[in-house]
Amino acid sequence: MRPTLVFLSFSTLIFPVSAEITLFQNYSGSTFFDRWTFFSGADLKTPGNVLYISEQQNNDLKLAFLNEAGNAIIKVDNTTDGSADPNYGRASIKISSNDSIPLGSLIIMDAVHLPFGCSVWPAFWTSGQVWPDQGEIDMVENVNLQTANQYSLHTLQGCQHPQSLADPIETGQFISSDCFNQTNGNEGCVVRDPSNNSFGSAFAKNGGGVFATLWTSVGIKIWFFQRGSIPADIGTPSPNPSAWGTPSANYPASSCPMSQFFGAQTLIFNIQLCGQFAGGTYGPPCQGQCTDLIQHPENYNDAYFEIKYVNVFTGVEDNTNITPSSSSASGGSSSTSASGKTSSSSTGAPSQTSGSSSNAAMPNVYPSLELMALSMAITSTIGVLFSGAL
Ligand SMILES: *[C@@H]1O[C@H](CO)[C@@H](O)[C@H](O)[C@H]1NC(C)=O
Ligand SMILES: *[C@@H]1O[C@H](CO)[C@@H](O)[C@H](O)[C@H]1NC(C)=O
Ligand SMILES: *[C@@H]1O[C@H](CO)[C@@H](O)[C@H](O)[C@H]1NC(C)=O
Ligand SMILES: *[C@@H]1O[C@H](CO)[C@@H](O)[C@H](O)[C@H]1NC(C)=O
Ligand SMILES: *[C@@H]1O[C@H](CO)[C@@H](O)[C@H](O)[C@H]1NC(C)=O
Repeated sequence: MRPTLVFLSFSTLIFPVSAEITLFQNYSGSTFFDRWTFFSGADLKTPGNVLYISEQQNNDLKLAFLNEAGNAIIKVDNTTDGSADPNYGRASIKISSNDSIPLGSLIIMDAVHLPFGCSVWPAFWTSGQVWPDQGEIDMVENVNLQTANQYSLHTLQGCQHPQSLADPIETGQFISSDCFNQTNGNEGCVVRDPSNNSFGSAFAKNGGGVFATLWTSVGIKIWFFQRGSIPADIGTPSPNPSAWGTPSANYPASSCPMSQFFGAQTLIFNIQLCGQFAGGTYGPPCQGQCTDLIQHPENYNDAYFEIKYVNVFTGVEDNTNITPSSSSASGGSSSTSASGKTSSSSTGAPSQTSGSSSNAAMPNVYPSLELMALSMAITSTIGVLFSGAL
């Protein structure tokens, strides 16, 4: 007995989280942009008023680069005057990670600035290869002058955020429960961060912060820590979610079985302008019409991510012990949406699916993201011609 006990406490000291937790990717410094693929052209799946630029175009335009502080900048063009072109599509960035990550991952993103401003719609999110069959996790997303971040999932039918819970499992404000991409115009199951400096100008003013997403068979939990309140283990090779307290958003597997609704995920950063979300919720204090702003570069001086690092860990288990004691996730009943029915956190991925009613992941007969990027590059010329209709 005795030697066994000694051995157990010894291993607990060395491996406080899990014996298998591995730093899978460390996107930071001069190698930050090495393992991403640029999506170019108009985004016909998540339309708006930008034309995403290719890696080659970025060599000239430099909308994605490392700044003097050693942080990654991902921005909208804020120098080109488009007022001569009524159909102007402003240049912006959409990049997807070359690597995809499995269930049992922890994604930590530290930013000092997130894009904001009237008409601006940024997102840091993940998508399965087949959308929505293999799921989407929106980790950072909101629009215009909002200062609280919104979390959301987008899936096939049957995945829900619990409607009511016996125990509080999240600190955020529950907005909508159905993650199904065909409910409420693909609004998703939205939770709003309780912190009014988790997005926008307030986020930047406070020096930013960290978003941490834990995705395991237990569910999806997302934390936000403002600068000054970031746990010491964040940013180290041994992050320990069990010490982070109640997450901002929590999607327990009891109402959304993870392996049923999520396949391997790629990470995506993008900045769209207007479109369904920024355009659909546009209004005072923003002036005029959303699309009035696009041609004028001075509207986009704050439309940039400044990112210290993204760390991705795999082999992660959920040891937080924050799970609902009971959940009622009955389908069909509607949620009260503070953001209104016209709002949406849709960020549909550039994948096509058949109209299958099966919840199981579709067989892999679809084009890869790389092939889609290539085909989008080819259709970017068409996108320019169509930009008047966007
Ligand atoms: C990531 O993918 C892009 C294009 O798909 C490629 O140019 C780049 O070399 C890849 N990076 C690595 C490290 O393989
Ligand atoms: C939801 O996904 C289905 C494919 O499963 C697609 O046909 C449909 O257009 C999507 N709806 C929205 C609003 O994105
Ligand atoms: C956060 O901002 C929203 C809208 O901007 C406002 O309605 C709410 O009262 C604010 N909450 C706090 C705690 O300041
Ligand atoms: C990631 O790499 C940077 C150097 O680019 C290093 O400073 C940092 O400690 C690394 N992070 C981890 C968790 O190892
Ligand atoms: C574009 O935005 C950046 C970042 O805010 C700013 O430093 C720069 O001065 C802006 N460019 C112009 C021409 O205003």
